[in-house]
Amino acid sequence: MMKNKFYITTPIYYVNANPHIGHAYTTIAADCLARFYREQGHDVYFLTGTDEHGQKIQKAAEQLNLSPKEFTDCISPKFKELWQTLNVSNDDFIRTTDARHIAAVQKFWEILKAKDEIYEGEYGGWYCVPDEMFWMESQLVDGKCPDCGRAVDFIKEKNYFFKLSKHQDWLLQYLKENPDFVFPQTRYNEVVGFLENNKLTDLCVSRPKSRLNWGIEVPFDREHVTYVWFDALINYISAIGFVDDKAKFDTFWPADIHMMAKDIIRQHAIYWPIMLKAAGLALPKQIVAHGWWKMGEIKMSKSLGNVVDPIEMVEKYGVDAFRYFLMRDVPFGGDGNFSTDSFEKRFNGDLANDLGNLVHRTANMISKYVDGKIPQGTALIWPEGIDSPILEKFVVQGGQASDLISKLAFNLYLAEVWDLIGAANKFVEQIKPWNLKKEGKQDEVINFLGIVVAVLKFSAQAIAPIMPSTAEKIKEQFSGDVIKIGEPLFPRVE
Ligand code: MSP
Repeated sequence: MMKNKFYITTPIYYVNANPHIGHAYTTIAADCLARFYREQGHDVYFLTGTDEHGQKIQKAAEQLNLSPKEFTDCISPKFKELWQTLNVSNDDFIRTTDARHIAAVQKFWEILKAKDEIYEGEYGGWYCVPDEMFWMESQLVDGKCPDCGRAVDFIKEKNYFFKLSKHQDWLLQYLKENPDFVFPQTRYNEVVGFLENNKLTDLCVSRPKSRLNWGIEVPFDREHVTYVWFDALINYISAIGFVDDKAKFDTFWPADIHMMAKDIIRQHAIYWPIMLKAAGLALPKQIVAHGWWKMGEIKMSKSLGNVVDPIEMVEKYGVDAFRYFLMRDVPFGGDGNFSTDSFEKRFNGDLANDLGNLVHRTANMISKYVDGKIPQGTALIWPEGIDSPILEKFVVQGGQASDLISKLAFNLYLAEVWDLIGAANKFVEQIKPWNLKKEGKQDEVINFLGIVVAVLKFSAQAIAPIMPSTAEKIKEQFSGDVIKIGEPLFPRVE
């Protein structure tokens, strides 16, 4: 039997600064899906990586007196290490400086050229020499560079153009026929609206080396390098063997999900599908664009410096608490405001009081009331006179796996699991097992503990994609014959 495959990607991140919580968010969300589908038996390929060419990177390197390659060799591993720290299960890590990627970009150029989708043209604009930036007439301030106020020159240069515009109607039609192509709906509407109200122009996809040499050479004109987005998007196919592994490529392409935030939706929902169509390749199944993490209403970004460092978060609260907060606090798709207050509220509430407490008190009760023997395998009976619809349903019907993860409703998914955990904690107070024990009702004590253990095992399974090591720790404590009491999972923070 052929296994279902699931190919998921994150953006490849720019290496001109260290990773922050925004990058961590996308990558963790993708990781949750990768882990979820692996658990479901899919053949998963999960790709992330770094975007290393272009002027911004070249400049960042120059400032440190390094060559661009020395610079990117220094920063790219920081991303790789961060993903390890965050327990991210990526199968591959692509760098746009990898030989396999360079070969794929050049092959892509050749294909488009052969299909007459590329032409030579002239690019003109107001150029600020010191800033190395092109501006449109309308952007100039008093005829000067809007960034630095210095004089600008009008220059014209030869460049290669990709015939984006001729595919506009096709793309609009495709979107109309495939309303799930962009998720969530708001972003889909935005893309459709943009295409309905604007005329696409052809895309200038090369830069002369006289201006920029940190890029992938155009294979049929070595005096030009590839425009960064035209280079970067191709990573999604270069990583899975576009040039050198046909079997792998045929297995995994098209991607199931390209995950990102809303800032780069146009490149992914307009440029990329048209590039693929022009090259005669299949389109990804879905472009998923979530919202932004903000600090006091302002988007977090490296240029503003208002960023939260994921490593600091992990050192202070642990990996799983961080992963939990990101996936629980904001409905996926919308923006989120980060604050230490809301983080610590969730930490002390959901994690320490609810899950941590249930694990710890159950382990202790097993040790005290039934000589540490974990009650399991016997049919559970719902105790009469106890009012807890959520828990009763769980006992009577068994735990049902939710499909909210596959619908990308991570926060609702977690809320459901926490409803059950909350009900189990309340159940302990309702049943008062310490009284049952005193009254010698040992069968009822065992049945009670059996129910709580079943809830814990089910919860551990359910949270595994989001909190993999917590899930493991719970399973370790409750899966054998005898309880292994562990350290508190989430000691309260003050
Ligand atoms: N290199 C391009 C992507 C090329 S993909 C073919 C790029 N890089 S980036 O480093 O700027 O990363 C942008 C992505 O980082 C966003 O789409 C999102 O995934 C993540 N985020 C960066 N800041 C973010 C927030 N403040 N909030 C949420 N996600 C953010 O664009």
